[in-house]
Amino acid sequence: MALTLAERSKLIAPSATLAMAAEAKRLKVKGIDVLDFALGEPDFNTPENIQEAAFQAIRSGKTHYTPPAGIPELRQAIADHYTNKIGLPTQAAQVVVSNGAKQSLHNALMALTGPGDEVIIPAPYWVSYADLVKLTGATPVVISTTEESGFKLSPEAFLAAVTPRTKLLMLNSPSNPTGVVYSRGELEALADAVLGTSAGVISDEIYEQLTYDGAEPTCFATLRPGLAERTVTISGVSKTYAMTGWRIGWAVASEPISKFMGDIQSQETSNPCSVSQWAALEAVAGPQDSVAEMLGHFAERRAYVLKRVALLHDVTCVAPGGAFYAFMNVSKHFGRTLGGKVITDSTDFCLTALAAVHVALVMGSAFGTEGYARLSFATDLKTLGRGFDALEVFLKD
Ligand SMILES: Cc1ncc(COP(=O)(O)O)c(C=O)c1O
Repeated sequence: MALTLAERSKLIAPSATLAMAAEAKRLKVKGIDVLDFALGEPDFNTPENIQEAAFQAIRSGKTHYTPPAGIPELRQAIADHYTNKIGLPTQAAQVVVSNGAKQSLHNALMALTGPGDEVIIPAPYWVSYADLVKLTGATPVVISTTEESGFKLSPEAFLAAVTPRTKLLMLNSPSNPTGVVYSRGELEALADAVLGTSAGVISDEIYEQLTYDGAEPTCFATLRPGLAERTVTISGVSKTYAMTGWRIGWAVASEPISKFMGDIQSQETSNPCSVSQWAALEAVAGPQDSVAEMLGHFAERRAYVLKRVALLHDVTCVAPGGAFYAFMNVSKHFGRTLGGKVITDSTDFCLTALAAVHVALVMGSAFGTEGYARLSFATDLKTLGRGFDALEVFLKD
């Protein structure tokens, strides 16, 4: 008799962005020229100084197990970054380095929540939040935000969702999928609301260094006295340094929490890749010129994308203040025939766009918000140009 899966298999769906990317790849293998705007990863190569640090680590035999929470040098460099640049006084012992920010989120949720707990997640949310919460046995409580409110959670909406079982609020600014950046004032108002409850916060700040037009990223934990003890701050090198495949992220938390997250990790994965940690050390502590250079390209692409979205038939989007996504409202097309198919929802829209004009986007429903399609502009201007030409044809169908 075949083995049966655990109950939790019913709770977990595969990541929709990765699924969409896989479908795009399937078409590419068939020789189809897919214009792929599905995956949220910089197209740039990892900067050379970082590559070099990895080569040196390999050559000098830094290829063994490391302490579970990361090499002391990297933990210290991250602590220094928070203390000196972000204004969050941090000890190395408060930093846990993981296999990507995704594992850091998992560690934080495993450390803090379980059956009976509720975790408030504003939608649109990053695809993995709800499933990562469910994995712990806790219940995601999704609060919808609207395009009219700039896709931002208000303190009133947060407080209305709080119950005696609320354990955490998950924040993400700059946001994936909307690119929304909360202002300092907006975050302060949320911080005050949080401090009036017993809830804690996981603040996912992975896009902290990718903002545009003077939008100021804010580290939530710094905003009010007492907030750092209630907050787990998540970030990493994937997006800022074009290091998605190296798998290095981190969590910063008060010591009892960071200690437990390190213990969880020691049982699950032992340690993040040793070579990647040495590369990440160079990323965090080495020259930062490449960050500004990549940001310049992203800013140029963002301006181009906004210009082209404005010309698309019956499509709008809130200008992203950060990250590299345009969250396009495509709902006016629902009920119409595009690519020979009547479009009923965002999944239909994206699958039909992929089949008809070979443009890969991700459906808004994957982010908990129907009516939208996410376009990642972490790709070159030429491909973006061809993508928008194809979308124009598709939407005039
Ligand atoms: C909001 C957000 N958090 C976390 C992650 C995960 O980052 P990593 O690749 O470091 O695991 C991503 C990646 O897409 C993201 O968009």
